[in-house]
Amino acid sequence: MNTQQITPGMIHVINGPNLNMLGKREPEIYGALTLDQINGELKKRAEALGLSLDFFQSNHEGEILDYIHAAFEQGPAGVIINPGALTHTSVALRDAMSMLSCPIVEVHLSNIHKRETFRHTSMIADIATGQLTGFGHYGYRMALDYLHALAG
Ligand code: DQA
Repeated sequence: MNTQQITPGMIHVINGPNLNMLGKREPEIYGALTLDQINGELKKRAEALGLSLDFFQSNHEGEILDYIHAAFEQGPAGVIINPGALTHTSVALRDAMSMLSCPIVEVHLSNIHKRETFRHTSMIADIATGQLTGFGHYGYRMALDYLHALAG
């Protein structure tokens, strides 16, 4: 899913570990749509809004950091990120995200604040522009609409 073709002014849609399993993974929590379906809808909406998206998913923390570094070098317009479980654990992810000066929207399909206590902490919440949690796949779309409103 990493296109490697990062151009300036892009919005980066980053998904972390296990999110490649959406559709099959605990659908009662995360919904029935696959990540490809979610990204497909997002792409259509971005095209209609005149925005360019680059999609990246990885199960590997280091790959996500490398991707963020590459995005940083190009000057991103915005980032939509669902870091999966790395949300709750990764100082390295936080440090990489801290380099970015663009708007950052943190998205979670489930409402992390209604779940186990260990999910209530996000390592990136205070460096993100905002957090959308519990709106299922609509959260990604809401994030895109927000970034579009900023761009407009
Ligand atoms: C998640 C919530 C995280 O706690 C979990 O580890 C995930 C998905 C969500 O989208 O609801 O992998 O980020």
